[in-house]
Amino acid sequence: MTELFYNSLSSGFGVSHEADVGTIVGQACDPRKRHDIPLLVIFGGTGDLAHRKLLPAVYNLSQEALAEGRQPPMRVLAIGRRAWTRRDYADWARDWIREFTRKPVTDELLDAFLNQYVDYHEMDIEDHAAYEGLFKTFERDYSDNPRVHYLAVAPRFFKPIALGLGSQPAACGQDRVIIEKPFGEDRMQAQQLFAALTQVFGEEHVFAIDHYLGKEMIQNILTLRFENMIFKSCWNRNFIESVEITASETVGVETRGGYYDQAGAMRDMVQNHLFQILSILAMEEPERDNSYAMSVAQQNVLQALRIPKLETCAKAICLGQYEGYRAEPKVSPESQTDTYAALAVYVDNPRWEGVPFLIRTGKKLARRSTYVVINFRRTPGAKEPDRLVIDIQPDEGVELRFNIKKPGLGFAVEPVAMSFCQSCSVEAHSNTPEAYERLLQAACEGQRELFSQWPQIQLSWAWVDRVLEVWAEAGRPLFSYEQGSTGPKEADAFAARHGVTWYSDEA
Ligand code: BG6
Repeated sequence: MTELFYNSLSSGFGVSHEADVGTIVGQACDPRKRHDIPLLVIFGGTGDLAHRKLLPAVYNLSQEALAEGRQPPMRVLAIGRRAWTRRDYADWARDWIREFTRKPVTDELLDAFLNQYVDYHEMDIEDHAAYEGLFKTFERDYSDNPRVHYLAVAPRFFKPIALGLGSQPAACGQDRVIIEKPFGEDRMQAQQLFAALTQVFGEEHVFAIDHYLGKEMIQNILTLRFENMIFKSCWNRNFIESVEITASETVGVETRGGYYDQAGAMRDMVQNHLFQILSILAMEEPERDNSYAMSVAQQNVLQALRIPKLETCAKAICLGQYEGYRAEPKVSPESQTDTYAALAVYVDNPRWEGVPFLIRTGKKLARRSTYVVINFRRTPGAKEPDRLVIDIQPDEGVELRFNIKKPGLGFAVEPVAMSFCQSCSVEAHSNTPEAYERLLQAACEGQRELFSQWPQIQLSWAWVDRVLEVWAEAGRPLFSYEQGSTGPKEADAFAARHGVTWYSDEA
């Protein structure tokens, strides 16, 4: 059943429906090689992502070089609709960088960064003719800089931007493009977006960012799993009873009600971030020195996910909504959108047969905390399993919990923990690159390992689409939960049906 279902997915982008985009194909490319530092062209240069993440990340990457009078690793051309000069943009960006950077900021460094390495170009990105002006700016000021276009805009703008950039031969062949989720609302929309971009830039130049792949402790899962025989040798169904993945947030939908009400937790967090974690935890060891190997290993996991049926829906998915969500700005007063999702996922392959992966995420919960728990099989009579806890954020670290003899004359057993706290060490913490820094640098260097590949995105969308269909057929059960709680009460009984009591380090 699973196999047949996935065989029906396309292996390419299926672009025939995009006739107007198709006309770009076949144009000659500018053959010049550009030797200067990369130019990061930010579409949406005055938006939320630009000021909170991208500009601070570029500053952090540049700070050391600026302090030593060297050239930083990239320069920025921000694109926006506002009739601003470069100076206006610099004045606006200054405070945001101060607020969100993790590296030391001085007036001198900030001036050097903003005056020499950040520029602004005013244009309406939906106006096809306006791209002429952008190309003139490229030619005049940045003819020697390889270009990396960051589409920090809503997905409906991806196609106009692709068409605009594709209208000049210089855009093809060398330019890279980075896109952010959401890649549409379902697999079909995602496929159309990728088709439009691939037609212009070529598949190997499209970088789909999932910032979770840039997180230090998510990368560390690879090291833990594959560089330690104690874990490598027992990472399978014979030794592992269950796996938990929790991403709990205290924030609500804030100003993003319009987007979030169409998406919900399943599309906003599960389809991308949590499936990245799941597939890294469950994959076979990828070949080294092959930039596609990890994505292929992750795809194999996604391909083996069991698809719940109507009869098993209640056992596979438990969705919730926080009290007061329907009164949030831009949210429908009758909204059935999930702000909490708990899932029980089974990977039907020999390594994981029968092992439940319990995933949960939600907004307006008691704590901000993302972590993975590996529950090892219990020895006969043991009350608690041995556990490996991987703290991803805000704390970063690893804890191994196991049983030991209680000191004294008897033989009573008690659970104890051995901890490695990465974020406790100031040095490690200040050296931990923010996910966006790592990913921007990787895209500029053309490293594809840290980006999602289309087949992987397609598989996770297909699973989420199908599960949401089954949930709709089951009458959309949605459990309400109090703000500041750990989620709907029903989620505890849900986990118990798979033999799991959600781990809590507060217990
Ligand atoms: C984003 C989601 O992709 O990830 C947000 O759209 C969510 O809703 C955020 O809050 C979580 O990211 P992080 O890095 O804070 O865990």
